[in-house]
Amino acid sequence: MEVVPLGSVDEVAALGADVIESTVRARSGAAVLGLATGSTPLPTYRELIRRHEAGLAPSYDGVRCFTLDEYVGLPPGHPESYRATIARELTDPLGIPADRVQGPSPELEGLPTAGERYEEALVAAGGVDVQVLGIGSDGHLAFNEPGSSLASLTRLKTLTEETRRDNARFFGSIDEVPRHVLTQGLGTILRARHLLLLATGAGKAAALSAAVEGPVSASCPASVLQLHPHVTVLCDATAASGLARREHYREVYDAKPSWQGL
Ligand code: F6R
Repeated sequence: MEVVPLGSVDEVAALGADVIESTVRARSGAAVLGLATGSTPLPTYRELIRRHEAGLAPSYDGVRCFTLDEYVGLPPGHPESYRATIARELTDPLGIPADRVQGPSPELEGLPTAGERYEEALVAAGGVDVQVLGIGSDGHLAFNEPGSSLASLTRLKTLTEETRRDNARFFGSIDEVPRHVLTQGLGTILRARHLLLLATGAGKAAALSAAVEGPVSASCPASVLQLHPHVTVLCDATAASGLARREHYREVYDAKPSWQGL
C-alpha cells in the first residue's frame, strides 16, 4: 500500500485526477473506471471536469464506468440515487454516455439476483482498471459495514445508524436515508487492478489509521486494502493525523523515482 500524505484537499484532488487520467490514457479509450459517490471524491471529479473543459484531458470516448453501490428504496431518478449523483457530478460533464455507466440495479423485483448480475457485468467488462474509494467514519468501504465478510461479493446490505446519520446531510433528515443498499463486496473491490482511496478531513483520521496501520479485520472493512497489491491512499493532513508512520510515508513518496508513478 502506498500512502501519500498531502497538504490540502486540492492536492488530493489534483493527484487523484492524475491517477485516473493516466489510467484512461494507458488504456487508450478502453478504460473501466470504478466510481465512488459521497463528498470525498467530489473535488477530484471537479478537477477532472475542469481539465476536460479546458481541453487538457484525455478522451473519454469508449471509457466505461461502474459505481460502487446504490441505495435501495428510492423512487427511480431520485437526485440522491448514486446513478443520478454520478451522472450529475462526473459522467455527464465528461461526456460519457449513460449506457456506459452502470450501477447495481435497485429495482425491488430483481433484488435477489441483482448482486450476481452486477458481478457478471463487471467480469464481462474485463474488470475495473482503477477503483476510486472513500472511507466511512466507521471504517466502511463501499457500503460494507463493520462485520462484512472480507471475501464478500455484490449483495444487499443494511446501513448502520452511524452511516445513515453521516449521510442524512444529502437528504432532508435521517428518516429519509434508505436502510438498505446494494454494494460491491470487499472481494469484488479487491478484484480491481488499482485501488485509489481518497480520505480528507479530521472525521476520517481514526478510520484511516485503523485501515492502514491496524490489523486486517472485518471490524474495519477498509483494512482489507492491506491484502491488495496496488493501493494508493491520498489523504490530506487532517485525515493523515492519526497515522503513526505518516512522516515515513511522505519521505518514501518524495524519494520515489519519477518513472515509478503511482
Ligand atoms: C460511496 C461509498 C461510501 C463512501 C463513504 C465516505 O459510494 O461507497 O463508502 O465513500 O461513506 O463518504 P464521504 O466521502 O461522503 O465521507
